[in-house]
Amino acid sequence: MMNTIAIAIDGPAGAGKSTLARILAKELQYIYVDTGALYRAVGYAMLQKGVSPSDAESVIPNLTDLTVSLQFVDGEQQVLLNGENVSSSIRTPEVSMAASAVSAIPEVRRFLFDLQQNMAKTHNVIMDGRDIGTVVLPWAQVKIFLSASPEARAQRRYEELLQKGQTVTFEEVLKDMIERDYNDSHRAVAPLKPADDAISVDTSGNTLEQSIELLKSIVKEKLLCLNIR
Ligand code: DC
Repeated sequence: MMNTIAIAIDGPAGAGKSTLARILAKELQYIYVDTGALYRAVGYAMLQKGVSPSDAESVIPNLTDLTVSLQFVDGEQQVLLNGENVSSSIRTPEVSMAASAVSAIPEVRRFLFDLQQNMAKTHNVIMDGRDIGTVVLPWAQVKIFLSASPEARAQRRYEELLQKGQTVTFEEVLKDMIERDYNDSHRAVAPLKPADDAISVDTSGNTLEQSIELLKSIVKEKLLCLNIR
């Protein structure tokens, strides 16, 4: 039995996982761990090295000289690649696709596994990703599977990218998202899917406030049932 509390939030890109997890973590005073950033850091490293992210035979030997670590500044996660803070550089459409490609390689998943598990062994966490409730933290006391229609998710991601000053079209974002969902849910190892004991939440058409309230009530009820305050 773990002494820490873990809330696992899985789901496809753009379902609102990170926004909701960040707000919930602040309220509960847990640490928010965004595991997608780890896969993004590996994808980014491969692009930097000129290695094709989908070419497992080239990616695997290049893992040996990579160090991926996390640090938290004012509660915000930063991801370090060989000691360099790459948190902003990993938020591009190109790195999203690279992350999805490297994440299908079992050696990459193994490479990032301990870092994720150790965070949850030492802190109360809200961890989001694709396989948190199924593989990384199967013991998580609360598991939520967050989804929304592809159009609603692409619209959110499109607005985020525009805000960051990136030039993309809605159609490009939607196409990339559908491709990434397909890759993430059809890979052989740790595919995106709800854990058997996950609570499914569809955020299509919800305002942020509505989704937060919904998630808060699910978490509260679940922790109350388990006699955890
Ligand atoms: O959450 P994100 O969009 O930043 O994740 C980027 C990619 O990383 C995603 O397309 C699949 C992969 N990923 C994964 O395979 N497992 C996780 N737990 C988190 C992300």
